[in-house]
Amino acid sequence: MDQAAILRQITEKKKATTSARARGKVTGLKHKICVISVTSGKGGVGKTNIVANLAYILSGMKKKTLILDADCGLANIDLILGLTPEYNLYHVLKGEKTLKETIINGPGGIKILPSSSGIQEMSSLTMGQKMVLRDELNALQSRPDVMLIDTSAGITENVMYFNMVAGETIVVVTPEPTSLTDAYALIKVLYQRHAKKRFMLLVNMVKTQNEAKEVFFRMAQATNHFLNLAIEHLGYVFYDENLIRAVKQQKLLAELCPGSPSMKCLREVAEKLCQPAQEQENNEIISFFN
Ligand SMILES: Nc1ncnc2c1ncn2[C@@H]1O[C@H](COP(=O)(O)OP(=O)(O)OP(=O)(O)O)[C@@H](O)[C@H]1O
Ligand SMILES: [Mg+2]
Repeated sequence: MDQAAILRQITEKKKATTSARARGKVTGLKHKICVISVTSGKGGVGKTNIVANLAYILSGMKKKTLILDADCGLANIDLILGLTPEYNLYHVLKGEKTLKETIINGPGGIKILPSSSGIQEMSSLTMGQKMVLRDELNALQSRPDVMLIDTSAGITENVMYFNMVAGETIVVVTPEPTSLTDAYALIKVLYQRHAKKRFMLLVNMVKTQNEAKEVFFRMAQATNHFLNLAIEHLGYVFYDENLIRAVKQQKLLAELCPGSPSMKCLREVAEKLCQPAQEQENNEIISFFN
């Protein structure tokens, strides 16, 4: 099949999904808490930086934004923001602190629920711990409009769980072939074993817009051909030396270089996420914010 035919097939499938969605309840960020997981097959593709900068942008768009650091074994969102939280998710799950006592303020009005690093028992949450987290989130007085979940990489139990409780899932890839094969494996497991159907691809560290298009096409072709699944193209982010500098300075790129081309890409992504009719599709029994 040629490229145009495959793209046509993807578009047709997408149309079918969209009209099915239109028949259902339309919910957008304005009306309901939007829970978005940011995930990847391969590590180090830029999830944490994307989450932090997106949160800053969304917050600037008057969306109350909470980051849940779900990289439970090796958390680092606080590190890239230069914050030193006193308590984290570990204390909440042990029943020692409430979420209110644990959530900290980040730059630009974002709220962060930090996680722990180097605590083995956090790398695979028990059902009881998941329930505690759900109940604590539901008990929050001041609810966010958007919750961004920064997952760890791979296909571990925790990664599956946090992707299942999210209504929307952003899969971050880079042009590296291993990043694509690992992302494909993640999508496959989430789709086949957990019936997750909606995936938005975000291509990070690209040199050109065309490179991003090619990466998306390769992935869409694979999911379409082997899984009969149409994925969405959320956007792309340019490779940016300023971001590397920002990480070293423990500052947000959004603060250090708001005018950089990669920030423009992220603003476009945020705009797209804020468009209405983002369907919430929680299949998990323990979905957040019931
Ligand atoms: N757009 C970009 N341009 C240049 N470098 C980038 C970009 N995005 C990420 N990086 C580099 O990749 C590194 C890893 O980014 P980050 O920690 O956000 O990835 P991650 O996917 O969260 O990793 P992990 O899987 O370990 O949690 C950053 O420290 C930075 O050096
Ligand atoms: Mg990370």
